[in-house]
Amino acid sequence: MEKKKFYITTPIYYPSADFHIGHCYTTIIADAIARYKRLSGYDVFFQTGTDEHGQKIEKKALETGVTPKEYVDPIIENAKDLWKKLGISYDYFIRTTDEDHVKRVQEIFKIMYDKGDIYKGEYKGLYCTPCESFWTESQLDENGACPDCHREVHEVKEEAYFFRLSKYQDKLIEYYDKHPDFIQPISRKNEMLNNFIKPGLEDLCVSRTSFKWGIPVTFDKDHVIYVWIDALTNYITSLGYPDENSELFKKYWPADLHLVGKEIVRFHTIIWPCMLMSLGLELPHQVFGHGWLIINGGKISKSLGNYKDPREYIDSYGVDAVRYFALREVPFGNDGNFSEEALISRTNSDLVNTLGNLVNRTIAMSKKYFDSKVENKHVNESIDDSIITYANMLPNLVETKMNSFKVNEALEDIFELLKRCNKYIDDTTPWLLAKDETKLDRLKTVLYNILESIRISAILLRAFIPTTSDRIFKMLNTKNIEFDTLEFGKLENNITLNEAEILFERIDTK
Ligand code: ME8
Ligand code: MG
Repeated sequence: MEKKKFYITTPIYYPSADFHIGHCYTTIIADAIARYKRLSGYDVFFQTGTDEHGQKIEKKALETGVTPKEYVDPIIENAKDLWKKLGISYDYFIRTTDEDHVKRVQEIFKIMYDKGDIYKGEYKGLYCTPCESFWTESQLDENGACPDCHREVHEVKEEAYFFRLSKYQDKLIEYYDKHPDFIQPISRKNEMLNNFIKPGLEDLCVSRTSFKWGIPVTFDKDHVIYVWIDALTNYITSLGYPDENSELFKKYWPADLHLVGKEIVRFHTIIWPCMLMSLGLELPHQVFGHGWLIINGGKISKSLGNYKDPREYIDSYGVDAVRYFALREVPFGNDGNFSEEALISRTNSDLVNTLGNLVNRTIAMSKKYFDSKVENKHVNESIDDSIITYANMLPNLVETKMNSFKVNEALEDIFELLKRCNKYIDDTTPWLLAKDETKLDRLKTVLYNILESIRISAILLRAFIPTTSDRIFKMLNTKNIEFDTLEFGKLENNITLNEAEILFERIDTK
């Protein structure tokens, strides 16, 4: 049988500076969902990338005395290295400077132009000459001046191409109505409808003549294609669109999930669907707008210098501590605070205490009492239900949470099993059983039950903290690590455990 497909994307990030923990946040969550879907048997296409054109990058490059391409290249190398260190399992990394992308964006622009959905008009904007930037009224500072340099702005007009967004307003509302799950969480859908769509959609300016670092309009060389057509189309150009014969496009489009930060939900749920309608293409199934990681109540900001290179956290605490924090700390959809203290405390409480200690002491007891041999003697007592019944329910619990992208709750459910195991040890007191010759079969059963719960947890944790899962499988010496072995009792009988390793070191805080 052919596998079901799942196409998931992150935003393509601006390589104006090196990526920070906020970019990691989206990418780690997308990675966990992609891995989870692969493990559940889906044929997954997971895409991330970089959004490289535009005035801001052109300016930065100029200040640095290099070309825009020379400016972004090392930032992209750096980003790829960061994704590697974080274990991001993307299938494709798109750069908007890729030749294929450039050519396809030009074709898409032409298709929309020929259809009459792109037309030439006049753009009026507020311009700051020293900054060479356009601003809208609402972007100005409190004195009505440039929000960057606080100097005077003046109104300028330039010839520009526009996309007929207004034409698609009713069709868009209809699409929302027919697909109530399109925008997640639901609160963001109401925001889009009430704040943006119902007041009326205005046609969108999609070209500029005031800067050069962009994709040229093929039939009007003074114009470069402005940001959103270039950026949003990454989700289809990577699959080969508009090439009719592209197998990738036929197979993976429409996207199943665009994962984005809340500030760009508008572009993904209004502009992007209208562009797709113009092209006569299917719309993505879902757009999820997550909240922001906040540092000390404020934005993560390069200019404030209030964050470290994420690699420093990986080097200090390990990749899975960083991944786990991103996936577990913040209820998905909400804003949440990021701090090194919060990362440390999350690691100590969950990864060191609940998971690491459990694995360690169970393997140590197995070694001490039975020379690391594992055997289920099936001498069960009713207290065993507290873990066995729950362990058998757990895959479904996790599946439900993952289907609604509540990754933090999925992890909570998995850790509930580990907590129950810790309590089970306290209640069954293996060290007392070990003193009684007649209780040794019961003791073997107890240890089996815990080790089996650990195996099941580790399988479910593969999507989230894959390195840790692999280390647990190695210690357990088990071959049953796939989702189709998620049934209590599949841990092999008569195996010999490997030496226990410390999974997570306790992090000391001064
Ligand atoms: O917007 N907390 O790129 P960008 C959580 N190129 N997520 C954060 C975050 C934070 N503090 N900071 C950034 C762009 N992000 C466009 C996108 S898509 C066709 C074009 C994440 O570099 C979050 O996913 O500004 C947010 O939407 C994205 O980075 C913005 O990245
Ligand atoms: Mg941004």
